Amino acid sequence: MKNIAVAGFGFMGMTHTLNILKNKELKLKAIIDPDLHLLEKNLNAETGNFSTGNISPEELAELNKYSSLDECLESEDLDAVHLCVHTNLHYDLTRKALLKDKHVLLEKPFCLDIDKGQELIELAEKRGKVLMIGHVLRFMSPYVQLKKWIESEEFGKLRFLSMHRYSGIPTWGQWIDKNISTSSGGALFDLVIHDIDFASWVLGQPSVIKCNYLPGKMSNHDYVSAMWNYDGSNVNVKIEGGNTFHGKFSFQAGYMAQFEKASVHYTSLKGDTIQVSDEKSIKEISAGDPGTSYYNEIDYFAGCMKNGNRPELCLPGSSLDTIKLCYRHIME
Ligand SMILES: NC(=O)c1ccc[n+]([C@@H]2O[C@H](COP(=O)([O-])OP(=O)(O)OC[C@H]3O[C@@H](n4cnc5c(N)ncnc54)[C@H](O)[C@@H]3O)[C@@H](O)[C@H]2O)c1
Repeated sequence: MKNIAVAGFGFMGMTHTLNILKNKELKLKAIIDPDLHLLEKNLNAETGNFSTGNISPEELAELNKYSSLDECLESEDLDAVHLCVHTNLHYDLTRKALLKDKHVLLEKPFCLDIDKGQELIELAEKRGKVLMIGHVLRFMSPYVQLKKWIESEEFGKLRFLSMHRYSGIPTWGQWIDKNISTSSGGALFDLVIHDIDFASWVLGQPSVIKCNYLPGKMSNHDYVSAMWNYDGSNVNVKIEGGNTFHGKFSFQAGYMAQFEKASVHYTSLKGDTIQVSDEKSIKEISAGDPGTSYYNEIDYFAGCMKNGNRPELCLPGSSLDTIKLCYRHIME
């Protein structure tokens, strides 16, 4: 078993803690959060824009707790850290962990500063450590299924892919701190990045991006509507999303993919099915269990550590390319 600690016990920290506790390859040794006094309170609070389950106070009581990563790295015999802190801390904490020869699973977005992201990739390589960024759609069943259809051409070639993701403005945890929320890069880098990452992972970097965007409370691009085109291909991609909606607006994400022989549609509002339509019929097929995506992600990371493999399904270089691609939406 590999010893791991979770840094940042907010929405994502709790989500990942739950999944680490389920994993037989991982031993959760500690959690790190400067707001230790809030931990018990956080357990009962509604946090995040969708439900990911609950940790019991008994499970929490068994874990060692630290208020800083430094303290934890000094005291615990760790193989890895899972960093679930806000974007403004991604570089510093990843660097600290790698310098102490720990494998790192870091929440998205990687690093908004491209040079610093590159430095972390090189540091991980030099130290021989797994560095993976948590782009969870790569591990989410309805999206994994879509990738398979695109690659297998079961419904013919893909012609048009439309992906969307809407959320209310985050109101939990540290998101209410203006400095934290604005340093996230706004919805483009924090929310819409999920779809930008997935589409470019499967289809490659677009040749041309036409993007309209609107300001919100976090940035000038808290709503994004973009069309991508590829030279030498008929595929068009639409990416739309944002967090300019009211706090209680139901989180929703999904896709519509138009293939030569069928149209497929998925929405998280009806998370367990994908609709496949052609000229003659509409079928509802199982979307698998999208709720297991965070487990799949951590399980894949655990497997890479165990077998000494690079995280080929989600290499940090590809996550840095995704950040560069996000910038193209507001620069082209
Ligand atoms: N993959 C996803 O689906 C998804 C969803 C939401 C958020 N995220 C990402 O997760 C990250 C955190 O978001 P969140 O919604 O969980 O935030 P949050 O505000 O709920 O939690 C952040 C936690 O980090 C703690 N923290 C602050 N400084 C720290 C430090 N130096 N060391 C350790 N802990 C520290 C805070 O006290 C807080 O408990 C962000 O990068 C966000 O983009 C990913």
